[in-house]
Amino acid sequence: MQIHHTIASLRAALANADRIAFVPTMGNLHDGHIDLMRQAREQAGTVVASIFVNRLQFGPKEDFDKYPRTFENDCARLAAAGVDHLFAPDEKEMYPTPQRYHVEPDPAHVNILEGAVRAGHFGGVATVVLKLFNIVQPNVALFGKKDYQQLMVLSNMVRELALPIEIVAGETIRADDGLALSSRNGYLSTAERAEAPRLNRQLAWIREKLAAGEKDFLRLETEAMAELAAHGWHPDYIAIRRRSDLQPPQGDESLVVLAAAKLGNTRLIDNLEI
Ligand code: PAJ
Repeated sequence: MQIHHTIASLRAALANADRIAFVPTMGNLHDGHIDLMRQAREQAGTVVASIFVNRLQFGPKEDFDKYPRTFENDCARLAAAGVDHLFAPDEKEMYPTPQRYHVEPDPAHVNILEGAVRAGHFGGVATVVLKLFNIVQPNVALFGKKDYQQLMVLSNMVRELALPIEIVAGETIRADDGLALSSRNGYLSTAERAEAPRLNRQLAWIREKLAAGEKDFLRLETEAMAELAAHGWHPDYIAIRRRSDLQPPQGDESLVVLAAAKLGNTRLIDNLEI
């Protein structure tokens, strides 16, 4: 695997690449990331991953400074997964001057759920991903359903800006007890880690109730949040939404239930398609 710290080095190496599959990450890689690399390997002759902790998508009170950085380990995992090129720029390379041109996603897509709690987050994600797309120029890019709203925002960006890139969605990879793998799971204490799978269990409970014919979405959302709160969580939302644009369902649409909650100081998100 070749490691590139500059745009020029990566571009030179990719100049003659045929079909490129790209997986952007912020590093601290786990099996969820590696599963995306595996799928990328099936998609194209050249696989490019990136590691860049993107300041633009973190709020002032969020965990940018303490976000785990494990570059050596990450490189070993990427090489073992068959990644051809790793793009790992520092901040000066990505943002040599303050980034003043931004992607502004549809407010209807980003003023809800994660975006309602994390103002500016999806604008920061969309801006860095568009910039990475321009640097890598992939044919296909892979994102996890774990970050369901991010996937929706980026799919819409690609479509509305006519980027010649196919977006492929990877299923959420979980620990045996159901907890969705996340770089932020490392912040959990032993006791919190034992409690953490409850988030996924509440989503599964809602899915069961819906399958059994329950129609009162608000009751399910409220009860699931109350159950979390009773076990020490601080839920931001549990919401049953339609998959296409994450708005409240109107009729007979495919659904997804999404959740975000704090356990101690750690904020976890998860979702389940119904
Ligand atoms: P990061 O959190 O590192 O995630 C990189 C990719 O891995 C994203 O597409 C995310 O959805 C996916 N992923 C994370 N956990 C997963 C899991 N348990 N199963 C499957 N896929 C999982 O998401 C970002 O970085 C950033 O916002 C980024 C897109 C790189 C822009 O900075």
